[in-house]
Amino acid sequence: MSDDPLERLRLRARQRVEDGLRRSVTPRDVTDPLLDLASNDYLGLARDHRVRQAAAAAADQWGAGSTGSRLVTGSTTLHARLEDDLARFVGAAAGLVFSSGYLANLGAIAALGGPDVLVVSDAFNHASVIDACRLSRSRVVVVDHRAVDQVAAALRARHEPHALVVTDSVFSVDGDLAPLAGLAETVRQHDALLVVDEAHALGVVGDGGRGAVAAAGLAGDPAVVVTVTLSKSLGSQGGAVLADSELIAHLVDTARTFIFDTALAPPAVGAALAALHVLRAEPELAVRARQHAAHLTRAAWALGLAVREPAAAVASIVIGDPRAAVAAQARCAEHGVRVGCFRPPSVPDGLSRVRLTARADLSQDDLDRAVHALQLIGGTAGGRHTVPT
Ligand SMILES: Cc1ncc(COP(=O)(O)O)c(C=O)c1O
Repeated sequence: MSDDPLERLRLRARQRVEDGLRRSVTPRDVTDPLLDLASNDYLGLARDHRVRQAAAAAADQWGAGSTGSRLVTGSTTLHARLEDDLARFVGAAAGLVFSSGYLANLGAIAALGGPDVLVVSDAFNHASVIDACRLSRSRVVVVDHRAVDQVAAALRARHEPHALVVTDSVFSVDGDLAPLAGLAETVRQHDALLVVDEAHALGVVGDGGRGAVAAAGLAGDPAVVVTVTLSKSLGSQGGAVLADSELIAHLVDTARTFIFDTALAPPAVGAALAALHVLRAEPELAVRARQHAAHLTRAAWALGLAVREPAAAVASIVIGDPRAAVAAQARCAEHGVRVGCFRPPSVPDGLSRVRLTARADLSQDDLDRAVHALQLIGGTAGGRHTVPT
């Protein structure tokens, strides 16, 4: 046995290299010449001048940091405005801003769970939802992807007095949609709550980008709790929970990632507010992101690539082997296009993939380059694939 405490990490790192699963941090330079098809900046607002100016103005007025947790000094009138505007935008009664989408999920699900609450979670939920389930001290039943019948069976068979069903609305890796109407009906029948993570839907799905919950006619339903991130369509940073007022008051009292975390920094709040105003004024941004995703998907299908019909702004191309996915990503970069690459544990074994983000602000020339990237991916990955069911 080695007495070097880092030896076990080295062994694991070696194994990850062998399995094609080593990760590395690659800083972007400010002059980065690559066409970005990898980010979550779905509406192209992260660098929009109105959003940047709002961030700078908030820093000027309030300072660079929020100076404390929300319940001490961290809450500003800017936070309150963002909460009101976000809630109104998605049709919820109230809102609560957290310092990331990850922390919004951890805070909300842990505060709504507990030993007397069953939590039912979709197998393809985001890591933050999975971690939140673990933190909740609830018994957790993981059901197959989009399996409403399994959710109903778990709720029917429960011995806990309370229950929570948790799901992404647009699943982060495949980009497909949760069966929200069926889940809402099921939670109604079993006196449960439904928590929906709208991270990938806000700004892209539904009328004016109001999200999949609104599109399913569930806006304002007191049994539905929406979580969002401010870091994707809104081009900023942070997260929020949008829900019934009593439920939000419960989170203020009990959500540990709200109480024991420094509040979101004012520049991020100002940027998110400005981005939300842009989105309200320009609802066509959401339409354009979806149209671009449909365009890239049709091009991928024509090349025989395995892509699901996207519900939002991402086209996810299943390649299978992690090394082939990395090679496809590298080939795109050689040709000036940055695409995302997902390998285990972000996706199940054998389902490594590359992902293209169809930003609303892509020009025709950008879209042509994206289609060229798809051709390179087809060539590198070696032929035709089928979409996994
Ligand atoms: C579905 C989903 N939920 C939550 C998050 C976390 O949000 P944030 O990056 O704001 O922490 C992400 C990704 O970042 C996500 O894809």
